[in-house]
Amino acid sequence: MATERHFDFLILGSGIAGLFYAMKVAPHGSVGIVTKKHRAESNTNYAQGGIAAVTSKEDSVEMHLKDTLQAGAGLCNEAVVRTIVEEGPERVGELMQMGMEFSEREVPGADGEREFDLGKEGGHSKRRILHAKDATGRAIEAALLNAINAHDSVEWFEDHFAIDLITTEKLGVEGENRCVGVYVLNQLNGEVETFSAKTVLLATGGCGKVYLYTTNPDIATGDGVAMAYRAGVPVANMEFIQFHPTCLYHSKAKTFLVTEAVRGEGGIIKGIDGEAFMDRYHKLASLAPRDVVARAIDAEMKKTGSDSVHLDITDKPAKFIADRFPNIHQTCLKFGIDITREPIPIVPAAHYQCGGVLTDTSGRTDLAGLRAVGEVACTGLHGANRLASNSLLEAVVCAHQAAMEVVEKIGDHPDVEIPPWQTGNAHDADELVVVSHNWDELRRTMWDYVGIVRTTKRLQRAKTRIALLREEIQQYYWDFTVTSDLLELRNIATVADLIVSCALQRPESRGLHYTLDYPERNEEWAQKNTIVRREK
Ligand code: FUM
Repeated sequence: MATERHFDFLILGSGIAGLFYAMKVAPHGSVGIVTKKHRAESNTNYAQGGIAAVTSKEDSVEMHLKDTLQAGAGLCNEAVVRTIVEEGPERVGELMQMGMEFSEREVPGADGEREFDLGKEGGHSKRRILHAKDATGRAIEAALLNAINAHDSVEWFEDHFAIDLITTEKLGVEGENRCVGVYVLNQLNGEVETFSAKTVLLATGGCGKVYLYTTNPDIATGDGVAMAYRAGVPVANMEFIQFHPTCLYHSKAKTFLVTEAVRGEGGIIKGIDGEAFMDRYHKLASLAPRDVVARAIDAEMKKTGSDSVHLDITDKPAKFIADRFPNIHQTCLKFGIDITREPIPIVPAAHYQCGGVLTDTSGRTDLAGLRAVGEVACTGLHGANRLASNSLLEAVVCAHQAAMEVVEKIGDHPDVEIPPWQTGNAHDADELVVVSHNWDELRRTMWDYVGIVRTTKRLQRAKTRIALLREEIQQYYWDFTVTSDLLELRNIATVADLIVSCALQRPESRGLHYTLDYPERNEEWAQKNTIVRREK
């Protein structure tokens, strides 16, 4: 007998967006949280920098708004930016009520009085980043997981991989098309279970693993975007993949980010010859917006033939560095680099997906019953380039708005009968090399042809190769029993194709999308999103 489960609120993903939403809906019904690894394994958990919010007297909503619009290169939705920046501080306050503790410092000359120790990152005109030293995401994740324990209505499904959304249209049920559940692979026993729900939240994060080099953990395979796309939901602006300029370069260090806050505290990007070259690229030098810094590093590496450049914070006192950046200090020491005395070798790496499932600020998608919040979603906040540390802010504001709306209507949705997953004639695969080969080929193709600097010819080459890979993966998918490796491969191939399709649609360079064939902005595209939707 196939396993069937039912929830009022089903959440896919266990990062800040999913957990904050869970905290809000938990008093109103049953909640299922599906996550493909351990519950703490999310992109949030690896966020170092922090959460940007207006909390100081020197700062203002207008300034935060202006910085966000500036970084977004003319493509942000200003109303969305305003909502998120305005509501942010209140949601951050709630996060603290849920147990989050941000780093504080003594107010100079104020007799023991304390205030937030606000950090600064690229593109911010003020210090406004709330952080927990250099491991903010880990602290947020721990606080939320702990707070959720107080709710008996929440049931966890770890090692469960969401395969596909179930819609009434697919089931042949008449009326408005609606998402009514998800087929989920229980990785512990290989069974595909049916989860039905009154409302489903995608909070699955981003897709860094589409690229060969990324700051993201292994889970970031674009599962939510791929599932939504397969269900016919519009996806937008996928060409805007943010490359973080400073990922540790070391043969044994897989995906270790060196937070931009290091530059906020005086770290300087230098060539391997010691030249602080960023002055030649932007007036904000090492603290220029990320797209500018990543492109400058790419250009310098190509010019000099070096494999990396350097990030140097040795001008600061060793005690300050070790205290402010304990995580980075200790991790680099493990690789034989003492950041208090020597520069850190760094390279850019894929970091953040600015596009995603098209939503409003309450996570509403084009498909009734399905909302998307966090990196998986494209609300219009980030435009063509996300301002550093705006993503955790977006997650809490949108999770709150989504929760408020779904809670109000949760009683309105009748249950729908869902048939169990059909395995057909699928059998166990005997040649797993196909999966690993395609996985490598896809990620290298994306890195080489769809990276920081693009051309139309390279994008077209990538499109052709991805189409071949997708055909092969699809064949494999039908013939063999599903495994998480195969499902992830299918998802990264879908997302890779969406990134290339969006990039080919945009005949200009803007923000994170830079192409040598159209090196300038084209103002006709200033407010145009690139939208892709699966043909029926
Ligand atoms: O550099 C960082 O700590 C990253 C921050 C972010 O991506 O928002």
